[in-house]
Amino acid sequence: MTKPLRIGLAGLGTVGGGVGKILEQQGDRLASLAGRPIVISAVSARDRSKDRGFDQSAAVWFDDPIAMAGQADIDVFVELMGGADGPAKVAVEAALAAGRHVVTANKALVAHHGANLAAIAEQSGAALNYEAAVAGGIPIIKAMREGLVANSIHSVAGILNGTCNYILTEMEATGADFSDVLGDAQKLGYAEADPSFDVGGIDAAHKLAILASIAFGTRVDFGSVYVEGIEAIGIDDIHFAAEFGYRVKLLGITTLNDKGLVEQRVHPALVPLTSPLAAVSGVTNAVSVEGSSVGNVVLEGPGAGEGPTASAVIADLVDIARGIVFPPFGLPHSALSAPRSADMADHSGSYYLHVKAADRAGSMAEITKALADAGVSIEQIVQHPDRGQGGEWLPVVLLTHETREATMQKALSLLEEHADVVSAPVVIRIEDR
Ligand code: NAP
Ligand code: HSE
Repeated sequence: MTKPLRIGLAGLGTVGGGVGKILEQQGDRLASLAGRPIVISAVSARDRSKDRGFDQSAAVWFDDPIAMAGQADIDVFVELMGGADGPAKVAVEAALAAGRHVVTANKALVAHHGANLAAIAEQSGAALNYEAAVAGGIPIIKAMREGLVANSIHSVAGILNGTCNYILTEMEATGADFSDVLGDAQKLGYAEADPSFDVGGIDAAHKLAILASIAFGTRVDFGSVYVEGIEAIGIDDIHFAAEFGYRVKLLGITTLNDKGLVEQRVHPALVPLTSPLAAVSGVTNAVSVEGSSVGNVVLEGPGAGEGPTASAVIADLVDIARGIVFPPFGLPHSALSAPRSADMADHSGSYYLHVKAADRAGSMAEITKALADAGVSIEQIVQHPDRGQGGEWLPVVLLTHETREATMQKALSLLEEHADVVSAPVVIRIEDR
């Protein structure tokens, strides 16, 4: 019998539990495919007494995941605890330095420390695999690092956070409050330990920074991602957007511009109701990659949750069992270049703007004047009738022509100072993709 691949599982929650169950249920089939069995030799979590839904009796228990990474009799350290720093980082560094392969689903860790971890991994000859960190069950890392290797990548864009897409879909379908729907996403195992990472756009930004590194051969540069979350989006915005023929989605977009600068941005966007992205609903993610030879490739699938995420972890384990080790970001670490990032102020596009305007003579004129003073040209504008707000203010909703981000920000500051504008306007970028 070929030597088994011995793994240590650190984290037995949504994803770790899923990995344990798949190995238990699919072990024989996976052993045939990998050429050797994959066995769980060690486990670690905070609470030893919890039932994890699979048999761990043959595994050695570790209270301390860092000790497991450095000392256990394992070939692969599987990090499924989470967190950019703390035990996850220390344990992964220890495992890689000791020449143990690492598989992780931790996008925060890879986005913040990926370049350094890749350097340690390459020095010791260990694999650092993180397919589950981006877009859940979609094999986007494999697709970009291997299947699309013939291409210079121009852009990567898509829906990268299942929790936000689930929330926006449910808000539109049921009219439910943001907070109720977030609670459902947490119960379903989609959300991060701190769900503000999801709704604030940080989780999608972690994933986008990783994809940008693979796409453009640069070191991961999370700090340069422009990030906005979905917290300001109200049910009214979802309805107004539909009246203009759009749907609201949280998108992550990275492009290499003609000056060789990398744009990385995560923010809510209006996409045409007829576009493929508008049809991506619930926890589903979709990633579109524009390559020089292949054209546009779109991958779509479940972006979060136990089964899909564990599926990606297992794929990484099977690669290691087969003896396949890739440089974590495609290029060897020493060949990754320092990123040069584009300034968000130079971004150009059309915008949706929702202003709560005092319901009195002249307020519409003042709003359009503020926009004109800033240099923003209006494409369409609608003042909606009283929807129960008691006659004190009315929603004014408009779409702009193509405008520079810096110009739009100037218009916003003029509007926010205005007495006729009763609360901070909602601005959503329009993406015709
Ligand atoms: P989770 O359900 O909260 O599970 C976390 C696990 O880590 C728990 O078993 C917990 O132990 C254990 N843990 C936490 N701190 C520990 C420590 N100091 N020492 C030992 N064990 C510790 O989280 P999850 O949803 O599985 O997510 C795990 C990772 O996968 C995160 O990096 C997340 O971003 C990523 N991810 C999650 C999804 C998803 O859909 N859930 C998708 C893609 C990627 P106890 O159970 O004893 O508390
Ligand atoms: N919280 C993440 C999401 C998990 O909702 O997309 C998958 O990475």
